[in-house]
Amino acid sequence: KSIAELGDLRGKRVLVRSDLNVPLDGTTITDDGRIRASVPTIKQLSDAGARVVVCAHLGRPKGAPEDKYSLRPVAARLGELLGRDVTFATDTVGESAKAAVDAAGDGDVVLLENLRFNPGETSKDEAERGAFAGELAALADAYVSDGFGVVHRKQASVYDVARLLPAAVGGLVETEVGVLRRLTEDPDRPYAVVLGGAKVSDKLAVIDNLIQTADRLLIGGGMVFTFLAAQDYEVGRSLLEADQVETVKGYLEQARERGVEIVLPVDIVAATEFSADADHEVVPAGAIPADRMGLDIGPESGVLFAEKLDGCRTVFWNGPMGAFEMEPYAAGTAAVAKALVELTEKGALTVVGGGDSAAAVRQLGFEDDQFGHISTGGGASLEYLEGKQLPGLTVLDEEK
Ligand code: 3PG
Repeated sequence: KSIAELGDLRGKRVLVRSDLNVPLDGTTITDDGRIRASVPTIKQLSDAGARVVVCAHLGRPKGAPEDKYSLRPVAARLGELLGRDVTFATDTVGESAKAAVDAAGDGDVVLLENLRFNPGETSKDEAERGAFAGELAALADAYVSDGFGVVHRKQASVYDVARLLPAAVGGLVETEVGVLRRLTEDPDRPYAVVLGGAKVSDKLAVIDNLIQTADRLLIGGGMVFTFLAAQDYEVGRSLLEADQVETVKGYLEQARERGVEIVLPVDIVAATEFSADADHEVVPAGAIPADRMGLDIGPESGVLFAEKLDGCRTVFWNGPMGAFEMEPYAAGTAAVAKALVELTEKGALTVVGGGDSAAAVRQLGFEDDQFGHISTGGGASLEYLEGKQLPGLTVLDEEK
């Protein structure tokens, strides 16, 4: 169901699940990409005269309020971007929330406090989750699912509440799914995937799937050292998941059999410690000194990755190539971002997935519109590519 199919929304209370999980430095939002991406749906509902009740989470609090995870700074930023006041409720389903929703007029926007301050939101116990979903549903007449970044979570505000109210899909979720579908269903080839980020273990299922679908897999970031170790290279003090080396060897073998090219860095920026001021040097990927750790792919690898991406018609990128937040280790991530920008200009479909990669390209000075699509979902986009059923999407197709 689309929002239009919910009928006339004037005067109706509409609960919107957005993903407003933004990085904060104290109370300062360091990347407001997810808030910006959530604005069009909230504005659409407000313009239609709905009383808009936005709900979202921030971070991973353990089912109880914690100041550092309050959504209050997000309410202020959302108001600025919408160009109208946003009432902030200091709880989620309690007195403050009820009073704010009761006082809302047509077109008004209320943001509820962090959903995860309530244990029912993330509970594995269906009854506990259902009870919390019931309290959320009591605040509204209809529900709109617009938090793409959380559709892979079977949580009260994503899944259970959608079964209790007339539910529709928001424009952000529609757009994200539309783009990711182009990657999974007959992508224009060659189709390359660039994977980075810290842990291989987070990405095993997606690697398994990509070996069946992509033509080329480029690996960087912290996870690359497990790949290098699987080639019997010395990785010094670099991040290594020793228990995954055998699994990775299996992937390398499978990729060879299927004719999927796996591209690994040929050089590495190796430092004496995880710090911007540490002594660092570029070393061959096969010869990382025992007392050093790799913190970025090296310059030759940046050139190699750009060459391997050149000519590709579809590229998906998830995860930075190095510790980009520190200037000496940002060049690898910048090289990949630049290669994607050039491909976009040549008409290829380029998709950047995940909070970290999106924040990285913005921090490095790139603009969102230089890429085909910047996904707001990290885990969600990877699970979509894995071909998993995502609870927040399947629930919208259920008959009520
Ligand atoms: C994300 O940051 O990927 C989403 O907001 C989901 O957050 P979570 O991984 O804490 O569920």
